[in-house]
Amino acid sequence: MNDQSLFPKATKAALKNNPPGAWMPALPKGCIRLSSGYPAPELIPSEQIKAAVDKLIQEEHDLPLHYLGSPRIKSLQRQLQRRLEERGISVQEGELLITSGGCQAIDLIARTLLDEETAIAVESPSYMEALEIFQNYTNQIITIPVDERGLQTNTLETILTERKRDGLTLPRFLYTIPSFHNPTGTTMTPERRSHLLELSIKFDFLIVEDDAYGELAFLDSPTPIKANDSAGRVLHIGSLSKVVAPGMRIGWVVGDRELVSAFAWFKKDLDHPFAQATMAAYLENVEFEQRLTLLREEYRTKRDTMIQALEQFLPSSVTWHVPEGGYFVWVKIPGIETSCLLEKALVEGVSYIPGKYFFLNQKDGSEFLRLSFSYSQKEEIIQGIQKLGKLLS
Ligand SMILES: Cc1ncc(COP(=O)(O)O)c(C=O)c1O
Repeated sequence: MNDQSLFPKATKAALKNNPPGAWMPALPKGCIRLSSGYPAPELIPSEQIKAAVDKLIQEEHDLPLHYLGSPRIKSLQRQLQRRLEERGISVQEGELLITSGGCQAIDLIARTLLDEETAIAVESPSYMEALEIFQNYTNQIITIPVDERGLQTNTLETILTERKRDGLTLPRFLYTIPSFHNPTGTTMTPERRSHLLELSIKFDFLIVEDDAYGELAFLDSPTPIKANDSAGRVLHIGSLSKVVAPGMRIGWVVGDRELVSAFAWFKKDLDHPFAQATMAAYLENVEFEQRLTLLREEYRTKRDTMIQALEQFLPSSVTWHVPEGGYFVWVKIPGIETSCLLEKALVEGVSYIPGKYFFLNQKDGSEFLRLSFSYSQKEEIIQGIQKLGKLLS
């Protein structure tokens, strides 16, 4: 059988791209994982989640094991809504959809709003999994550079003005990670956030705000773009993966009711009621603000450890951005092809993600790499950077 003949045009086009996860290095045993954008193992609340499961089954018996049996699924909605409201995002009935991680929200938005004729805009660089998802639906992707102050909104305005003048398609949405960006760690300034909102009205596009790291501020918490969205143009994506546990797969999208109801249409019941009920039971028993304070403090000290090690062990030609939150440090090594360097780094026993995977035009990322300080222990972070320094000396 010729499988290719089974696939519709859009699927065939998608399958020409790199397979999902092509960016993930194969790690030798004992390798220090500065590639992994995962929470620190010791900060996953396994005992409290175990207690939440026990409580759930004890109180609700078989209910959470049915399709939609547990009343806690509704209560998770209310808990998330309250949290969003504390961050300035008001949520009315029908405007919040819980998804299987932030990634399902990205996929539902793409699936519902895109076809191969539709253009979108993304930051360059951007989260590689989001790029993978978008490329399943369209190849018309406009890239807008990010600098130390986040998305360059002036460049966006110039590009859109030119496209409009030339009769080219304008983007249906712009995907941004404004706070503690993956991979650069940068945060969009309030001025640029306002400018972006103005541009979304002027050029009639939606803003997809991916706030996966927004609660992990080491200093001041940035105000989400959605909090100032008086024109209803922002789809705000959140996740508990970075602050509770990624395996629970709890994310959400908040936005205009009609759009959210279209996302729900396609989501159907392809999420996890048991995980949602468990998360609700877990949140009932935890002082979430206290937990966030602990996480911010832990990740801030890990960030400091990594920056000090970079200063100590890397040559002076190497530069990086010091993030004020999140999980990542973005490093530039002039004149070095970081995907080639990775082979040697893995032999030495340290991993990172080469910068090229965060760019559609991979050449743009050849001298960059993403380090994650979230997963490894502080001693491992120091050893890992020392190993990288040895390779570069
Ligand atoms: C920018 C960004 N968005 C979304 C996610 C998705 O997280 P999840 O699907 O686990 O909620 C991640 C995870 O790495 C991320 O870095």
